[in-house]
Amino acid sequence: MSDTRISPEQYQKLSQIVYKESGIVLNEKKYNLLVARLAKRMRKTRIPNVSAYIKRIASDEKEFGEFIDATTTNHTYFFRENKHCEFLLRTLKPEKPLKIWSAASSSGEEPFSIAVQFLDQNFEFSILASDVSDSMLNLGRQAVYPVERVKEVPKPMLHTYFQKGKNSRAGYVRMKPFVRERVTFAKHNLLSDEPKEMYDIIFCRNVMIYFDAPTRQKVVTTLLRALHPGGYLFVGLSESLHGLDHNVTPVVPSGYRKK
Ligand SMILES: C[S@@+](CC[C@H](N)C(=O)[O-])C[C@H]1O[C@@H](n2cnc3c(N)ncnc32)[C@H](O)[C@@H]1O
Repeated sequence: MSDTRISPEQYQKLSQIVYKESGIVLNEKKYNLLVARLAKRMRKTRIPNVSAYIKRIASDEKEFGEFIDATTTNHTYFFRENKHCEFLLRTLKPEKPLKIWSAASSSGEEPFSIAVQFLDQNFEFSILASDVSDSMLNLGRQAVYPVERVKEVPKPMLHTYFQKGKNSRAGYVRMKPFVRERVTFAKHNLLSDEPKEMYDIIFCRNVMIYFDAPTRQKVVTTLLRALHPGGYLFVGLSESLHGLDHNVTPVVPSGYRKK
């Protein structure tokens, strides 16, 4: 049995590790969450106490990734905050293939929701889907989802873009290959990695809510550098660029266009 009791110093040390790696602020309100998730990792790895666990993540890159993963919220679903996509479908008249970046894409529901709607409109496009979490990226690459997770997807789109699982895969759907090939999953830490290309549209939704203002500023500055003039940036509906320095104009709630 692991002794999962954690001292205030250990809590502070672990919160600092999380902040430095992912930008996520774990304040006192998140205490129970961190303790519960840490306990789960310790039981899984059979590490006897918190002090040994802290030593382990300092030397074991894989467990370090698992720990960061365990402290982040990966919740997402198909067609979440779809007003942004609807705005683009109404507004865009693309003359060349669109380059789209779903930054913090979690398990892939966001980029695949964009992909099926853009395919339906006959847009030419490619999507980079990135996240800091290896396990979420792997789920996105597999592109297999329980049927109850696709309830928001309109029926005709479900039929056209999703394969129904059979036998042992009953109760699951998988994105069809021609949808999967539009989306490339790659690891990218919003805090420390430089974008390698320029994009026409960037979605960075429901992640900055966990960051403090200096981290949000840093991330927004980096994202906007990677956005072509005239390109669009979307953040989560409960997020905004309020109070940050930027060179974009609001076009819809939580949606901005670069000058
Ligand atoms: C709540 S999900 C949002 C998924 C999707 N964008 C949406 O709106 O439904 C937040 C994601 O941000 C990722 N994340 C947290 N910190 C990150 C960082 N520093 N760099 C990249 N991704 C990060 C988490 O791994 C998680 O998958």
